[in-house]
Amino acid sequence: MPVTAHIVGWGSYLPEKVLTNAELESTLDTSDEWIAARTGIRERRVAAPGESTGTMAIEAARRALQVAAVEPSRVDLIIVATISPEYVFPATACLVQDAIGARNAAAFDISAGCTGFVYALAQAEQAIRAGNARLALVIGAEALSRFVDWEDRATCVLFGDGAGAVVLQAAENPGGILGTYLGSDGSGAELLYVPAGGARLPACENTVADRLHYLRMEGREVYRFAVKALERSTREVLRRVGLEVGDISLLIPHQANGRITDMAARALGLERHQVVETVEWCGNTSAASIPIALCRAIEDGRVHEGDLLVLVGFGAGLTWGAAAVRWSRIPTAPPGRGRIYYYRALYRLAEIRSLWRRLWRRLRSLALSWMNGYYRGGGGV
Ligand code: UT7
Repeated sequence: MPVTAHIVGWGSYLPEKVLTNAELESTLDTSDEWIAARTGIRERRVAAPGESTGTMAIEAARRALQVAAVEPSRVDLIIVATISPEYVFPATACLVQDAIGARNAAAFDISAGCTGFVYALAQAEQAIRAGNARLALVIGAEALSRFVDWEDRATCVLFGDGAGAVVLQAAENPGGILGTYLGSDGSGAELLYVPAGGARLPACENTVADRLHYLRMEGREVYRFAVKALERSTREVLRRVGLEVGDISLLIPHQANGRITDMAARALGLERHQVVETVEWCGNTSAASIPIALCRAIEDGRVHEGDLLVLVGFGAGLTWGAAAVRWSRIPTAPPGRGRIYYYRALYRLAEIRSLWRRLWRRLRSLALSWMNGYYRGGGGV
């Protein structure tokens, strides 16, 4: 029996601060009616000053591991999908690796816009199928509130912050991730991007003055692309795994705009109850939106053993992609108090380990520079 990858844990994190359309009305030339009618968004979450993409990714990862009852040291691979990483480098995934104490894991980020989570899921699934990993943590995390121009009403009303994660595990039983499909078209790179801060246009006074470090989007163009991308990616992934639209139990699309989701669902001939929508209360959280929506669907009791889920996204790049998942492994009991305390202790230990490694590096470097000075000064002769 070939190895298959199954989702055995899931978790999400949303910041506490809720920013409503009504609040935006007081700072922008916009209205609750316009935003709700054109996008379906009523409110979004915004990271607090102490929160960032990394902290939210860590929290979502911890929750997912707890549900899976998987200890961090058993994780082989961590992939974070994000367009709002903690740093240009190193990867946010490395910060997650350190914070959760996944001392045997490889870690890297994927930048594939709002399709990032599907891309990351595909890479993790392939690593598992190839026998290079048995347990993988796949995370979508974004702090887009740090990258939107709060003076640009055409974009800032759309985006929100949050993170979602799943644990993928190798198994020999059928089901799990049945197949994936990914695509891209870089000729649309400037339809949705942050112009400066990269190698092409490094940060300088002018780039800051011209507000080039903020996200820019040609909304109408992206809209037209999005509806087609959702429908075509869904059909293509189903074709690849030998299934049909009629087999779908639940479509979990990237949450950018309720109108885009509705149009794609109609084009596919799906009923409302077959489509997960979260955009109303958390806005567009880019690479985090699909795992957040998956977690919400599970919490709402909409995912059952044997269901066929299609996770489908589109976004900056341009990129698009879909994953067909046969929901096959559901832990029987939610994490009890014992497991929660045990995992808390593990994370505390991970923090201590990280502090110790930083301290040890510092001490070693001090000792080495002292020794260099000693020998150069002739002290060793
Ligand atoms: O996840 C990444 C992918 N991103 C997306 O999927 C976004 C895709 N695009 C969209 O969802 C839609 O294009 C938007 C929601 C961004 C815009 O909706 P639209 O129906 O395409 O509006 P529009 O851009 O054609 O703008 C219509 C009007 C304009 O005014 P004029 O030029 O007709 O006078 C805009 O200036 O609406 C105006 N407008 C607003 N009015 C009030 C734009 N933003 C706002 C606003 N409040 N926040």
